Amino acid sequence: MQTKVAVYGTGTIGSSWAALFAARGCNVRMYDLLPEAREAGFGKMRAALRSLFPREEETHEFRAALARVEIAATPEELLRDTEFIQESVVERYPVKREAHETIERFARPDAVIASSSSGLLAHRMQEGLARPERFLVAHPFNPPHLIPLVELVPGPRTNEDALAQAHAFYTALGKVPVVLRKEIPGHIANRIAAAVWRETIDLVASGAASLEDVDKALCAGPGLRWAFMGQHLTYHLNGGPGGYANFFAHFGPALESYMADLVTWTEVPAAARAEVLRQMEDSVRGKSIPEMEAWRDERLAKLVEVLYAREKEAVAHVR
Ligand SMILES: NC(=O)c1ccc[n+]([C@@H]2O[C@H](COP(=O)([O-])OP(=O)(O)OC[C@H]3O[C@@H](n4cnc5c(N)ncnc54)[C@H](O)[C@@H]3O)[C@@H](O)[C@H]2O)c1
Repeated sequence: MQTKVAVYGTGTIGSSWAALFAARGCNVRMYDLLPEAREAGFGKMRAALRSLFPREEETHEFRAALARVEIAATPEELLRDTEFIQESVVERYPVKREAHETIERFARPDAVIASSSSGLLAHRMQEGLARPERFLVAHPFNPPHLIPLVELVPGPRTNEDALAQAHAFYTALGKVPVVLRKEIPGHIANRIAAAVWRETIDLVASGAASLEDVDKALCAGPGLRWAFMGQHLTYHLNGGPGGYANFFAHFGPALESYMADLVTWTEVPAAARAEVLRQMEDSVRGKSIPEMEAWRDERLAKLVEVLYAREKEAVAHVR
């Protein structure tokens, strides 16, 4: 069975989701409040889809995937008989509320409603829903058509069945779902990012190393392992035959002494911000953002190909 998916909101995230859903065999309808955003979103979806079938000429697979995507003119048309709804409207509670009310009005009662929200709380979005048990947050990393992670955050009223369906659906798409057992700001990945960001700012601002060297130390060192092993497994292996317990015993005290030396501010100091901005400007002088984005996306696509090739064969279905 090919899942019928509705993409509600066709900005940066919705259009990228639509490309991924279509590439993996789903039938996709896209809708946005603004007709011009629907057209623009379709264009962005097409470009993202094209990057998932990277050949000079348009392949049969690309054309078949493109044919699976339609723009819906109304929410009713969008939601008719869809099994899975990926909501990606503007990140504000009142906007989400209005979108969710419309979705509930026209969606099948058994459809899963997944919100791409980066930071709004699932329990607040569930307030006032007629079927809160079918709702959860499914937070992707940008761009969702390339980066596998999706963080699933059930609210207190989400039922096990909806969570299991969402988990199975994203897994079948080749995504890597993780589940939050409680709602916390920043979910998992952005909290880790915040901790690393703070330290990388301080390393530059305190004069310990240049911005370029701090970024190099991250991506030519730990970043390579982080692409396929998390911090815990990395340290389990660093512990040798004695594993993680040995790592705690032998390397833990040294790392704890570094922890005592880490910065703990919770607002970026103005001087630190000015210094990283100055060094970043020097570092990228003469390179345009689109040029660097193309460079990034090409490398990202190659990495994903190497690390996640098997999942590409999967065809998504809800159950
Ligand atoms: N941009 C990111 O890096 C990123 C990453 C992960 C998650 N997200 C989340 O994805 C969601 C969308 O973010 P985005 O960056 O794509 O925003 P965006 O501004 O690019 O797109 C939002 C779209 O929603 C439409 N919209 C607004 N109200 C609507 C309504 N009532 N009905 C239908 N459409 C409506 C707008 O016209 C717009 O096209 C947010 O919740 C955001 O937190 C964003």
